Amino acid sequence: MTDDAQPIDFAGQSVIVTGGGAGIGRAYALAFAERGAKVVVNDLDGPGRARAEEVVDAIRAAGGEAITSLHSVATRAGGDAIVADALAAYGRIDALINNAGVLLDDAFEDLTDTDIDAMIAIHLKGAFHLAQPVFRVMKTAGYGRIVFTGSSSGMFGHAWHAAYGAAKTGLLGLSNVVALEGSPFGILSNVVMPNAMTALAGNIKQGFRDNADFMASVERVDFTTLLPALRPEYTAPLVVYLASRACRSSHSVYSQAGNRYARVIVGEAQGWLSSLDAPPSPEEIARHWAEVEDISTLHLPLTNYDELGISIAANRERLAQ
Ligand SMILES: NC(=O)c1ccc[n+]([C@@H]2O[C@H](COP(=O)([O-])OP(=O)(O)OC[C@H]3O[C@@H](n4cnc5c(N)ncnc54)[C@H](O)[C@@H]3O)[C@@H](O)[C@H]2O)c1
Repeated sequence: MTDDAQPIDFAGQSVIVTGGGAGIGRAYALAFAERGAKVVVNDLDGPGRARAEEVVDAIRAAGGEAITSLHSVATRAGGDAIVADALAAYGRIDALINNAGVLLDDAFEDLTDTDIDAMIAIHLKGAFHLAQPVFRVMKTAGYGRIVFTGSSSGMFGHAWHAAYGAAKTGLLGLSNVVALEGSPFGILSNVVMPNAMTALAGNIKQGFRDNADFMASVERVDFTTLLPALRPEYTAPLVVYLASRACRSSHSVYSQAGNRYARVIVGEAQGWLSSLDAPPSPEEIARHWAEVEDISTLHLPLTNYDELGISIAANRERLAQ
């Protein structure tokens, strides 16, 4: 299939982009509008108002349709109000891009309850606040695409990002379950992990610099090679595809790391089987640690039951020997 053979378009569709006034969300909003979507550009009232209005003006100037919706995703009332604005303006919601966010970073031991609560409220609960009412709309329509925004800060790890990374990786669990519950109703759910030089990325505190172990991984990276692609315009095509009718994938995580687009997996090793007659001792576990850790065979369970099925198959195989 070539780009020309199957153009991706959103004619007649409406898309909500949270945090659409700046950075990656801005690029999403413009890209969706360019492909015919009616776009709900959400951002915070106050600091985000002018930014969201600028995006809507740009879309309208190019002949597209868009409205602002200026409520915080961090509250239930804010989420409900964004969804109500979308329905009042366009009567439907075909795709939801949960993108709004801020980064609050500090040494793990110094994070306060206020810091932790803020990260959970914006990233994790914020996604619930939008996705729950949107899910109800999509379920009735029998169609929908939901994209959550994770981060390599949690998925892989970034020193000083404990609260941010935990909230972001919570979205993986959320998306997996939304994908399972949405599947009978044509609702697909995925997580995207972007990498772009935005205001958020520029505000990363550098306090982790005295952590020599972590700095070794930072210093291995030659940013100059990737800089041309560390831009929101490189994230947008991935999310436009995931939010489109053309996309059939669900229950997955996709990374945009510069100009490289890749699926990210949570896999499970084949592992070591203890006896079924009695639990193993910790020493036995230690003796078989290499087998526990051996990832030369990887399974990709998509439900709890898939995971138990791996154990059942391994036991059957052993009994058959
Ligand atoms: N930039 C990166 O490299 C990177 C990497 C991983 C994940 N992310 C995630 O991508 C998303 C977009 O980040 P960005 O880099 O474009 O940041 P950004 O700071 O450029 O833009 C974020 C936008 O979200 C808005 N926002 C913040 N809190 C909000 C709230 N409570 N309600 C509504 N809007 C709110 C801000 O006003 C801003 O306009 C975030 O979720 C971020 O955590 C970014």
